[in-house]
Amino acid sequence: MQAERTALIQKAAAALKNARYPLFLSGAGISAESGIPTFRGEEGLWKNFRAEDLATPEAFRRDPALVWEWYNWRKGIIRSKEPNAAHHAIRLIAEKLPQLMCVTQNVDGFHTLAGLPDILEMHGNIFRARCLVCGGVHEMRDAVEVTTPCPACGEARLRPDIVWFGESLPKNILHAIYDRLRVCDAILVVGTSGSVYPAAGFAVEVRRREGYVIEINVEEGHKPYAHDIYLRGKAGEILPQIAELI
Ligand code: OAD
Repeated sequence: MQAERTALIQKAAAALKNARYPLFLSGAGISAESGIPTFRGEEGLWKNFRAEDLATPEAFRRDPALVWEWYNWRKGIIRSKEPNAAHHAIRLIAEKLPQLMCVTQNVDGFHTLAGLPDILEMHGNIFRARCLVCGGVHEMRDAVEVTTPCPACGEARLRPDIVWFGESLPKNILHAIYDRLRVCDAILVVGTSGSVYPAAGFAVEVRRREGYVIEINVEEGHKPYAHDIYLRGKAGEILPQIAELI
């Protein structure tokens, strides 16, 4: 059993190392070992909160104070935690494989904090706010209230710089990802339930082009794609082993 697993980890490391255009995609599961709640599953945020009330443009129009309260609460949790072994391992893998493109659905900024320089944060960043009046985007690590003025124009119309349900992703990020997907020969997917598009479609696209799909997750779940290598377990335990072999 252990030998089989070691062989799979070696296979995953080799597939990434040999790929010309590898892609890495992370989801909330990669930060779970840091103590950040994921969205789905028994302990997930969407068990206790309704996305429709908190993570849509309509929700923000209806009750911006409630939406900010929720994001301020999450910011507080994230500020009190740190990147874990999985974030550090990916930084190491990216150092060894400069051709690796790194993408995350997470808004916690932990990949950057772990020293990964070029992470594409496709769903935004919880520590940034965007002004609905002047469009300026500002780093705001502390709590933001509906009365907080924009540091640039002074108007109190800030919103979290997060991609909400029903909104489009930043065009520059999407273009960069799709350019890579057109040639991608190996994708490493870590800690995502694969239930939110377009991220859930990335591995589908790689598979369609006969690229390698490697997945790390504590549970298999129902994915819209098949994988070539599935490593069941914690990202913080498996990724460092892959990093060592690359
Ligand atoms: P989910 O909460 O949907 O899925 C988390 C995944 O991580 C699940 O498949 C878990 O099995 C897995 N997991 C948990 N702990 C793990 C560990 N230690 N190691 C490896 N895997 C682990 O989170 P996402 O797929 O990221 O959108 O959710 C996608 C998007 O939905 C999020 O970006 C968010 C949410 O609504 C926005 O905030 C815009």
